[in-house]
Amino acid sequence: MGGKFSQLFIIIIFSLFSRYNSLEDGPTPYFEDVVSAGYDPQAYPSYFTTIQHANFEDLISQTNQLQTLGIITSPSTKTVNVDDFGATGDDANDDTQAFVKAWEEACSSKGEVVLEVPQGKCYQLKPIRFSGPCKSNLTLQQIYGCMEASNDMCDYMEDRRHWLVFDEADNLLIQGGGYINGNGMIWWQNSCKINKDLFHGVNCNFWFQALSFYKSKNLMVQNLNIQDAQQIHVSFEKCNNVQASGLTVTAPEKSPNTDGIHVSHTQNIRITDSIIATGDDCISIVSGSQNVQALNITCGPGHGISIGSLGSKHSKADVSGVTVDGAKLFGTTNGVRIKTWQANAALASHINFQNIEMFNVSNPIIIDQNYCDQDKPCKKQSSAVKVKSVVYKNIKGTSASELAIKFDCSKTHPCQGIFLQDVCLQKQGDTTAKAICNNVELSEMGIVCPRCKCMSITES
Ligand SMILES: *[C@@H]1O[C@H](CO)[C@@H](O)[C@H](O)[C@H]1NC(C)=O
Ligand SMILES: *[C@@H]1O[C@H](CO)[C@@H](O)[C@H](O)[C@H]1NC(C)=O
Ligand SMILES: *[C@@H]1O[C@H](CO)[C@@H](O)[C@H](O)[C@H]1NC(C)=O
Repeated sequence: MGGKFSQLFIIIIFSLFSRYNSLEDGPTPYFEDVVSAGYDPQAYPSYFTTIQHANFEDLISQTNQLQTLGIITSPSTKTVNVDDFGATGDDANDDTQAFVKAWEEACSSKGEVVLEVPQGKCYQLKPIRFSGPCKSNLTLQQIYGCMEASNDMCDYMEDRRHWLVFDEADNLLIQGGGYINGNGMIWWQNSCKINKDLFHGVNCNFWFQALSFYKSKNLMVQNLNIQDAQQIHVSFEKCNNVQASGLTVTAPEKSPNTDGIHVSHTQNIRITDSIIATGDDCISIVSGSQNVQALNITCGPGHGISIGSLGSKHSKADVSGVTVDGAKLFGTTNGVRIKTWQANAALASHINFQNIEMFNVSNPIIIDQNYCDQDKPCKKQSSAVKVKSVVYKNIKGTSASELAIKFDCSKTHPCQGIFLQDVCLQKQGDTTAKAICNNVELSEMGIVCPRCKCMSITES
């Protein structure tokens, strides 16, 4: 027992030390698996340790450097304006080639380059691949005007997954307060989910992305309005060191698969100060993503903040080190959700949801280890996706449904180290809400409501 005590104190001191040496909002402490470590959280309130993932300070200093350079550009900074390459911005002519040429010019220039999309104009664009690696050591794309997607489905026959994609474009800063409009109506009408026959040629297993960043590092995407995407609005895939902030992402509540921000196989990403109101997930964090922070996010309508689905297509792809801190969710179908498919070997761990307000959210807190979203009903099989060390702290508000907390974990792999502190949700216009806890190792501190009536804790 003495050994455990000293170990515990080292952990406390270490966590305080790390906290004061870090940025004001990170790294956030994570809940170490208290249950399997043998500590009693009721008796020892300070069981947090700091996650040893990649350092966010590196990211911040790098991206701040980018930002400073972006704003105070040196006299040698080259400016490339899309209009100089024949773009009209009259919202009628196709400006694709002008953008392609302007990008080629910017990307092949040495030093710092600004690519300008002028204000007060709207550019019609077919799919474009902004490919790197670039010779420029900083590419600043200033989007003041509007970029609008072609709504002719034939334009998408070549690359059936992307409209605007930045591919291996490192040291990139995109900002300017302009509009990126996916013009998605035609897509929504022909969505796989709505009309299976009409959706020719587009692979229903892959979701279309309006603005995507692929295999890029040191990115800042800020102060932009992204709207009416074909499907996913903004996607970061296989990226590293990303800051996204001040984004306003909007699409109708009924538009299918229009996730706000989608993160996959990406490390060290911070999404802050953004407002997302779409028809699907507000933020979705999937396979192979580590060290993801979402701070000060407003969601709704939509499907809420989601980790997963994990485990589809039999990929092994862990997600760990996710912090959602300071979120407001309005009328979303889920609040904070972890969803894993059955039958797969992946791990979702070290997840921290804190300081969250829910307003009439249908499933405010949910872990679903039996998630199934396909035509055929999924065969009942035991999930191999493990969910471990999840903290819910200071979460308040109202649930639209009676079931405010749902932990539906599998018998074979119970959810481990699930911790609730000061979590209180009430049914909208009523007082009684319920909690369901199947196969979960749960501990609580402070005021927790609703609480599980009877928990079925399975020995693993
Ligand atoms: C980019 O290169 C220029 C000249 O080659 C240099 O002055 C500048 O500091 C570099 N910027 C970055 C972000 O490395
Ligand atoms: C939170 O985000 C909103 C929306 O972008 C912004 O207006 C507000 O200033 C942010 N609040 C803080 C404390 O950063
Ligand atoms: C709460 O949400 C439900 C279902 O989403 C909706 O029917 C109801 O009108 C909402 N209530 C309020 C007060 O917004």
